[in-house]
Amino acid sequence: MEFKELTTNFLGRNVIYYKEIDSTQLEILRKINNLTNGTIIMADIQTNGKGTHGRVWHTSEKNNIAFSFVIYPNCNVRKLEGITKEIAETLVLAIKNIYNIELNIKHPNDIVYNNRKIGGILTQDKLNGEIVKYIVVGIGINTVQTEFPKEIENIATSIKKEFNIEVDRIKIITEFCNLFEQKFLERSYI
Ligand code: BTN
Repeated sequence: MEFKELTTNFLGRNVIYYKEIDSTQLEILRKINNLTNGTIIMADIQTNGKGTHGRVWHTSEKNNIAFSFVIYPNCNVRKLEGITKEIAETLVLAIKNIYNIELNIKHPNDIVYNNRKIGGILTQDKLNGEIVKYIVVGIGINTVQTEFPKEIENIATSIKKEFNIEVDRIKIITEFCNLFEQKFLERSYI
């Protein structure tokens, strides 16, 4: 798979796509030393999606957003402070740029609307002393899903449910990559 509107040097230049997988996050971690900088793994369906704090993340309907990417920054861990917040802000901006709707951020890693969760970010890193060897970022956004499992039905929602629009996940991921790589380079994380 290839994202045609990419303007990046590395983020999203290599995309591995699965119809179904246990978790894009686990898949990146399994392949960690064999992936080029900025590789994205995305999936239609995850059967064992991971949330923060060992929680489950449901991605059961095609066209929701579920992807992970890897960056090998080789920088001091202090430089990455606040990166999850920056990723959340970039996602909100990407969606606003394309669809003119404004989702909110619930610090540090939730994307919400009307107090219900639409998306989340899972950031995992590996340090060697203070040096960051890799950072793996997993992003899940409920786009088309309108029915949720009973245990989360009162706390979860989707873009479709709140705004009645069907978004294009490739457009959102591409815009996110374009904006985020720029921020990343400006902060000279690498
Ligand atoms: C959270 O708990 O809010 C974080 C959810 C992160 C979910 C995404 S979906 C893509 C990637 N693969 C996973 O298994 N988890 C992340």
